[in-house]
Amino acid sequence: MSVKTLDDLLAEGVQGRGVLVRSDLNVPLDDDGNITDPGRVIASVPTLQALAEAGAKVIVTAHLGRPKGEPDPKLSLAPVAAALGEKLGRHVQLAGDVVGTDGLARAEGLTDGDVLLLENIRFDARETSKDDSERLSLAKALAALVEGPDGSPGVFVSDGFGVVHRKQASVYDVATLLPHYAGTLVAAEVKVLQQLTSSTDRPYAVVLGGSKVSDKLAVIENLATKADSLIIGGGMCFTFLAAQGFSVGSSLLQEEMVDTCRRLLDEYADVIHLPVDIVVADKFAADAEAETVAADRIPDGKMGLDIGPGSVERFTALLSNAKTVFWNGPMGVFEFPAFAAGTKGVAEAIIGATGKGAFSVVGGGDSAAAVRRLGLPEDGFSHISTGGGASLEYLEGKELPGIQVLES
Ligand code: 3PG
Repeated sequence: MSVKTLDDLLAEGVQGRGVLVRSDLNVPLDDDGNITDPGRVIASVPTLQALAEAGAKVIVTAHLGRPKGEPDPKLSLAPVAAALGEKLGRHVQLAGDVVGTDGLARAEGLTDGDVLLLENIRFDARETSKDDSERLSLAKALAALVEGPDGSPGVFVSDGFGVVHRKQASVYDVATLLPHYAGTLVAAEVKVLQQLTSSTDRPYAVVLGGSKVSDKLAVIENLATKADSLIIGGGMCFTFLAAQGFSVGSSLLQEEMVDTCRRLLDEYADVIHLPVDIVVADKFAADAEAETVAADRIPDGKMGLDIGPGSVERFTALLSNAKTVFWNGPMGVFEFPAFAAGTKGVAEAIIGATGKGAFSVVGGGDSAAAVRRLGLPEDGFSHISTGGGASLEYLEGKELPGIQVLES
């Protein structure tokens, strides 16, 4: 990547300068607003710590969830500010707004080494606007926050890898206005994805899960031509099973994708691997009674909530000799212990392959959360990405606007 990095910025010197950092702090919250997986907060620390230690006036901007362009107290970054302060070991102020009077006043009051987090950037409708001039006006307001008292421009550090596939004001437009640098997280993530796509040792196994085929269609099309095996589990396997002519009971099904799945199965018969057994239940609940059935015998009224032990065995065999593995999406409803064995089994198979020297990448929020939630060793994988959609779009071969803009 021919972009300037955080090291370049630190070498230039940031003492007393205003630095705007786009981080991805979009963490899952429970019903009480507690963070259930702080992975992204932890991943954002190195860049912020380095800047604060070097004496920059650090202003962090980030989103949480998908608010409708106006303040929504349930999606305030308050819990994130507290968690970030704890991980950084320094106080993190939270502005009560994005670029309003409070954000402005706090930005003006910063001293060297201070860290200020702006409120959820998506509380401002201009962030995600399709109108270039609206986004640019928000980007200008963000840039103004880091301007020096003598009118000298501040700088922008892009460190929110999980959001670089979004052409949004705080990701893309602000980089067109300010001198820009890739933070350590963005640089590290791009390096791994480059390695995955350019020097792929074989056999190359891709494991895809998650609920919707439509979300993964482009990546399936792209990777089916590159991978030696494409293992499909999770909610989306039922649309493939339906395409094979099997009844899937009340499992998740995308009717409109059945024909597409049939075509994919015809075209990539040797590459695509589906579960051979399924753990079913009669309701979507943690206390639902689990039963394992053959994948072509899902009873009416039952829904598949995990892949079965026979599938784990089959997938483990495929993964055991892999030299490169990419995994995105859980195999089942791992949040419910009775339906977590499929995800855990496949994760353990990937850890086993990594132990034998394979290069393994876990891409995405849900699979990364599963690794931590199931108590699996994070260092059992070569890399756990913070970006779900971003890493998938990279692998689809799409240009990522938030990366492209850093190259100019
Ligand atoms: C993610 O969770 O993948 C990133 O934070 C991007 O969020 P978004 O899909 O709401 O843009």
